Amino acid sequence: MDIIFSGVQPSGVPTIGNYIGAMKQFVELQDRYQCYFCIVDEHAITVPQDRLKLRQQILSLAALYIAVGIDPRKSTVFIQSEVSAHAEAAWIVQCNVQIGELERMTQFKDKSQGSARGGVSAGLLTYPPLMVADIILYNADLVPVGEDQKQHMELTRDFVQRFNNRYGTEKQPILTMPEVKIPDKDAGGRIMSLQDPTKKMSKSDKNAKGFISMLDDADTIRKKIRSAVTDSSGKIEFDPENKPGISNLLVIYSSVTGRSINELVDTYADSGYGDFKHDLAEAIVEFITPIHERYFELMDSDELNLILDEGAEKARKVADKTLRRMQNAVGLGRKQRR
Ligand code: TYM
Repeated sequence: MDIIFSGVQPSGVPTIGNYIGAMKQFVELQDRYQCYFCIVDEHAITVPQDRLKLRQQILSLAALYIAVGIDPRKSTVFIQSEVSAHAEAAWIVQCNVQIGELERMTQFKDKSQGSARGGVSAGLLTYPPLMVADIILYNADLVPVGEDQKQHMELTRDFVQRFNNRYGTEKQPILTMPEVKIPDKDAGGRIMSLQDPTKKMSKSDKNAKGFISMLDDADTIRKKIRSAVTDSSGKIEFDPENKPGISNLLVIYSSVTGRSINELVDTYADSGYGDFKHDLAEAIVEFITPIHERYFELMDSDELNLILDEGAEKARKVADKTLRRMQNAVGLGRKQRR
C-alpha cells in the first residue's frame, strides 16, 4: 500500500478551511493508503505560543482528527515532538538546503513581514526543512494538503532529488519522492476568509468573524455566515474571480453536503443571499454537530492518550529507520548502523 503523511499545526482550533482543504481528504484516503497523520507541535512554536494553551490545543487537535473520522485502527495518529527523529532529520535537511531557498518561501515572507528581522525566530525560516523531515521520515508517496502548502512541497521534492543525487545511487535512492495532492479550487484547496474573500481563511486571523472554527457552536456559525461578505448583485453564481465571496460560500456548502456546485447554483437560482446563507448555516450545523459530540466524548476520556501513545510508538519505528539511513548516507556517527 502506498504511504501518506500529512500534518496540521496545533496553533489554534482548526477552521473549516483546514477541514475542507486537508482533514476531509485524510478521512477519504485512509482506506486506500497507509496513513500517518501528525499533530505538528514543533511547527507551532516557530511563533510565540502560550504553554498551557498549546498543550490544550495539541490534545484538542488529536480529538478533532478522530472526531472528523480518522480511524486510529487504520491510520497512525501521533504528536510530532514525541518522535525525536523529526528534529534530528530536520537538521540534516537544513544542512542541505540554501538560505536563499528558504527566504523565497512566501509563507516566510508573509509571516515575517512588518516585523524587524530581530523579531522573527530562526525557526520561522527553517520551518520548511522540518516539514521536509516530517514527510521523508515516513517514506511518504503522497501528501494531501491545501493549496498554501504547494511551495513547501516543491521544496520537499527538490530536496529529495538533491539528497538522492548527492548521497544515493540511481538504483538505490535513499529517500522516497513524494507527490502532492491538493483539492481543486472548487473543491476547497483554498477556502477564503468570510470577511475578506480575497484572503485565505486562517486559524490565526485576529478577526474571528473571518473563519468558522471546527468548535464553533451553532449560534456562532449562524452569525458568522450571516455576516459573511458577499457582493451587491444578489445573484448566486460560481465566479471566484468576480464574485469571490459567494463562490467561497458555494465551495463550503458543496464540501459539507456533498452536493455539487452546479446543483446548488440551480437550486438557488431564484433565491437571494439571505435564504442561501440561512440554508448554508444550517447545513454546516448539521455537519458539525456529530463531530462535536464525538469530540467532547474523546476529550472526556482516556481513549485519546492510548491512541497517541500507540501512534507515537508506531511512528518512531518507521522514522528511526529512515533517520539511520540518512545518518549513514551523510557519514554521521561511527559506522553503518541499522
Ligand atoms: P496548517 O496547520 O496551516 O494547515 C493544515 C492544513 O490545512 C490546509 N489549509 C487550508 N486548506 C484550504 N483552505 C484554507 N484556507 C486552508 N488553511 C489551511 C493546509 O494547506 C494544510 O494542509 N506546514 C503545514 C503543516 C505541516 C505539514 C507537514 C503538512 C507540517 N509538516 C508535513 C503536510 C506534511 C501547515 O502549516 O498547515
